[in-house]
Amino acid sequence: MARLFIGLMSGTSVDAIDAVLMDFSASDRLIAHFSQPIDPELKSEINRVIAARAWPQDTATLDQRLVEASVQAIHRVLEEASIRADQIEAVGSHGQTVFHDPEGAPPVSIQLGNAREIARTAGIPTVGNFRQADIDAGGQGAPLACAYHARLFRSRNEDRAVLNLGGIANLTFLPSDPSLDVTGFDTGPANTLSDAWIQHCQGPDFDHDGEWAKSGTVNRNLLDQMLEDPYIERSPPKSAGRETFNLTWLRTRLARHGTPLAHEDVQATLVELTARSVALGMQAHPGSSAPARVLLCGGGSNNAYLVSRLEHAMAGLPVERTDAHGVPSKWLEAMTFAWLAKQALDGEPANLPSVTGARRAVVLGEVHRAK
Ligand SMILES: Nc1ncnc2c1ncn2[C@@H]1O[C@H](COP(=O)(O)OP(=O)(O)O)[C@@H](O)[C@H]1O
Ligand SMILES: [Mg+2]
Repeated sequence: MARLFIGLMSGTSVDAIDAVLMDFSASDRLIAHFSQPIDPELKSEINRVIAARAWPQDTATLDQRLVEASVQAIHRVLEEASIRADQIEAVGSHGQTVFHDPEGAPPVSIQLGNAREIARTAGIPTVGNFRQADIDAGGQGAPLACAYHARLFRSRNEDRAVLNLGGIANLTFLPSDPSLDVTGFDTGPANTLSDAWIQHCQGPDFDHDGEWAKSGTVNRNLLDQMLEDPYIERSPPKSAGRETFNLTWLRTRLARHGTPLAHEDVQATLVELTARSVALGMQAHPGSSAPARVLLCGGGSNNAYLVSRLEHAMAGLPVERTDAHGVPSKWLEAMTFAWLAKQALDGEPANLPSVTGARRAVVLGEVHRAK
């Protein structure tokens, strides 16, 4: 019998709610997908909440608008697949992170887009708040994708790494030796700073294929200063968000640099920061030698210039997209949340303490009934 789940993911880039419909009855099968763009005005409201680090009075309205966008994404992916809502066991919805501070007092990770309301409105049981149980067990609550990366890509024949290039970059190490733990962490910014910089200087949401960055020259002094950031130098477990890496972070470093730089040189330096911080993170792998290959996913894997700089920084390690292994790089994160919903319904733990630093493996997510 089919086991149908929907996964919804909206990451730190606040670009879209990516929706997938999965069947987990045999091998994991992607049946349909849909990307629900986040309306520019809603996006700027969300960005305002993230930057404010406070709860403006209209947060409840934003939460409701994200519920509506999520339900629309659910309807669209059901239509794509010609499947009815009552055939779906559950939706796994990540929600839109507006604050992530797993080391704060109290430790928190807050997502908007209330899963209980999604369940009621869509009429499908919905699992949300995936990060809290891991945080309660002393973990970072992130990254959560590593367990699913292991399920799809771990090989007995070669050590592998998976690199997700969203707003933030996260690395998963998949040792071929089954006695070694899977490890992983956020290495630092992937696209979040270069997105913010091009938005600030020119207006577009992102630097298409890294063309603007490519036209600039890396400034070594600024790059070295950025690489000295305590987050990048710290050892795992660690997870990052836009609380740390944002336009204010960048402006502080530009001010320290002193001499004004051409805008495209800043962009080139930001791409180099991503490449170099990933390469530094790559040295923290658990095996005795570097992984045999690196599998890429997330929007940044479309950025040809970023990928070429990554290849350079990782000294020629073979880099390929997850598509080469039969998994669309665009949908992998949403697929993760469909799988996490299944794990929650099955009462199966889904965090990896070797990744998040939690004291134990726990069941993730809160399940909300449809009615
Ligand atoms: N063709 C492209 N060229 C450059 N960057 C791209 C391209 N396509 C997507 N991106 C980048 O990917 C980001 C979205 O990736 P995504 O995996 O959805 O991240 P998140 O999980 O943070 O939402 C965009 O903000 C942009 O920076
Ligand atoms: Mg996205």
